[in-house]
Formats: sequence, structure tokens, C-alpha cells
Amino acid sequence: MSAEKLYVGLMSGTSADSIDAVLVNLTATTPKLLATHSADIRGLKSEIHTLASSSENEIHRMGQLDRELGIRFAQATNELLSHENLCATDITAIGSHGQTIRHFPPTTTSEHPYSIQVGDPNTIAQLTGITTVADFRRRDIALGGHGAPLVPAFHQAVFGKTDSCRAIVNIGGVANITLLNGDTSNSPLLGYDTGPGNVLMDCWINQNLGLSYDQGGHWAAQGQVITSLLQQLLDTPYLSQPAPKSTGPELFNLSWLTKHLEQLPEVSSTDVQATLLEFTARTISDALKSHTPTASEIYCCGGGAYNTSLMLRLKTLLDPSLTSSTEHLGIPPEWVEAVAFAWLAKQTLEGKPGNEPSVTGASKASILGAIYPA
Ligand SMILES: Nc1ncnc2c1ncn2[C@@H]1O[C@H](COP(=O)(O)OP(=O)(O)O)[C@@H](O)[C@H]1O
Ligand SMILES: [Mg+2]
Repeated sequence: MSAEKLYVGLMSGTSADSIDAVLVNLTATTPKLLATHSADIRGLKSEIHTLASSSENEIHRMGQLDRELGIRFAQATNELLSHENLCATDITAIGSHGQTIRHFPPTTTSEHPYSIQVGDPNTIAQLTGITTVADFRRRDIALGGHGAPLVPAFHQAVFGKTDSCRAIVNIGGVANITLLNGDTSNSPLLGYDTGPGNVLMDCWINQNLGLSYDQGGHWAAQGQVITSLLQQLLDTPYLSQPAPKSTGPELFNLSWLTKHLEQLPEVSSTDVQATLLEFTARTISDALKSHTPTASEIYCCGGGAYNTSLMLRLKTLLDPSLTSSTEHLGIPPEWVEAVAFAWLAKQTLEGKPGNEPSVTGASKASILGAIYPA
């Protein structure tokens, strides 16, 4: 390999007229400008200037939230370490997923699919003194993937050593499944977002009772499933789309639900909650049943694993003797995803891929994320 240290510098300034690209030899102290290229971006100028000076303050709020969450993530880390009497130098790295505020995967109409997470990793690295790995999804999207779900690769690495067909069901806001067949050399790993996890039940109870979630699914358990509403919800095109696929509150949200309710006569809010629970259980169980061989062990994780009514329904729809939680695999359900992002950080630092192309639809496996040194 050449001893010459060649770099490319890219700059687009406030004028937003062009991208100034330089090829520079930085082997010696004095930079040697070897070549230049100017790429016209005047076609984007108006969009850049509108966003840069928008009177709507959405971007300013994003900037504020990005920093605020960065501070909170750092504080959470520092508190965790101080409880354990550990210091920054004891920790190899932080893997931070960040808070998703917009997810537009390849199947949406956007010209450029994207996913945005906030919680500034620069701030995390600065306030903790620990190398932070973040921005895991966007490299997969750059490879044509969904950038989601990312946990199946972790499920495979940690829960995958099995002779039987094992399913991991992560019930967060959104629900995703991973099907582990023991040996993936013959068949690619399968995993995708099945649809809503807790998101609709959370929104509905919040709107009607002012609670943040339906503890144990007790409210849902008091209602009756509205068959016509359930059928309408099950007809949602996303559910019959083939994988790879990912979704979020951009699709499954309160106004989406309200549109469905408008087509029905007056209904009780308790019955709607019961229907949303059934919808969640059905979308997960229908997805699991649609694959052969069917899973002979099913382990649930995410906060939804604590929704007793939902778990009961899932057990009935699947098989009670086969369905349990990841507690039985050694990781309590509510911590699996955070462990996954610690594992993804390790993958990145070791120069190993973190995505599973058969899951996300990316054209190849890749090292994910960016490293923000301590
Ligand atoms: N005891 C419980 N009963 C019912 N639902 C619960 C319980 N504990 C957590 N949840 C649900 O889990 C959600 C949080 O799950 P989590 O896995 O953290 O999701 P996310 O990854 O989307 O943040 C809560 O909003 C709630 O809906
Ligand atoms: Mg959560």
C-alpha cells in the first residue's frame, strides 16, 4: 500500500451553491492540493435555505431534543456505573440506539428512505468519557435496507444455538419476530416487524384514561372484541406485504385508528382496547404461523411480555406449552433490546457486520454505526 496519505475533503457552505471537493495529500505537514472538483447543488439551494431559516421550529426542536436526550443518555450511563462503583475506564464502549423520531423505510413513497434517531452521541461520549457507538440504522438504509429490525442478528448470535426452531418475539411499541432455525447456512435468517406491539394500546388508553399504558392489559380484558373493527384492522395492507418490512407510529397511530372508528357506529372505548389487544396478538401469531417449520419454542421480550392479557391471548393462539419469555434464555424481557445495542457496539468496534441482509433487505452485510471516541 502507498505511504502517501491521500484524503478527500467535502464542503458545502451557507451559500449552498456547490459542493467543493478536494483531493489532498496530507503526508507532509503542508497539504498538497492534488485535485479539485466543484459539484453544482443549486437545485437544492431553495430547499436548503427554506429548512435553514424555516419559521416553523421543528428543526430547532429536533436540535434541542437531540442534545437534551444526549445529556439524559449520558446521565443514565453515569448513574448505572456509579451504582456499580465502576468508572468510565472500566467500560469498553456504549452502544446507543437513540430515540427514533421518524422512520421512512424503502416501501414508503419517499424518494430517499431514511430513519432518524436523536440523542447526540457526541454529548454522550463527552459527558461519560466513554467511546460511544451510535447511528446504527442508516448504513443499512444506505445499502437499500430498512435499517430495521436490527435485533435479529443479535438474537441469532445469542439465542440461535439450538437444534429446534425457535422464535423470538420482541413486543415493544412495534412488534418484531426472529425465526431461528439453528443452522442458517442452508436458510437465511428471517425476521421483520409484524405490526403494532404496544403502540396502539398505549395511545388509546392515554387518550381515554390518561394512563401511559394498560397495566397487565387489565382494561383490555374488561372489553369485548369488536369483530368488524378487528377485521378492518387486519385488512391493513402492511400485514400482507412480504418481508423485508419495518413499520412504526408513522403508520400505526391514533389518527389511523380514528379513521377506522369513523366507519363504525358508536363503540365502547373498553371494547376498542380489547380489539387492539386482539389485533396485536393476531398480527404476531398470524406472522409466526405463516412460516414453516413452525416454531417449537417461542420466547417473548420487550415491555409487552408484561402485558398478562396479551401473553395469555398469544399463548392461546399459539401453544401455551411453547410460549414463554426470554427470562428462560437468561435475559429478562425488558433488557433484551438494550443488550442488543451493547452487542452491536461490540460488533462495530471489532469491525464485524451488525445487519442481517436477509432481514433488512440491505444489499450486503456491513459494519454499522459511527464511533465517537471517548
Ligand atoms: N406491566 C405491564 N403491563 C402492560 N404493558 C406493559 C407493562 N410493562 C410494560 N408494558 C408495555 O411495554 C411498553 C414498553 O415496552 P418497550 O419494550 O420498552 O418498548 P420500546 O422498545 O418501544 O420502548 C410500555 O409502553 C407498555 O405498553
Ligand atoms: Mg422502551
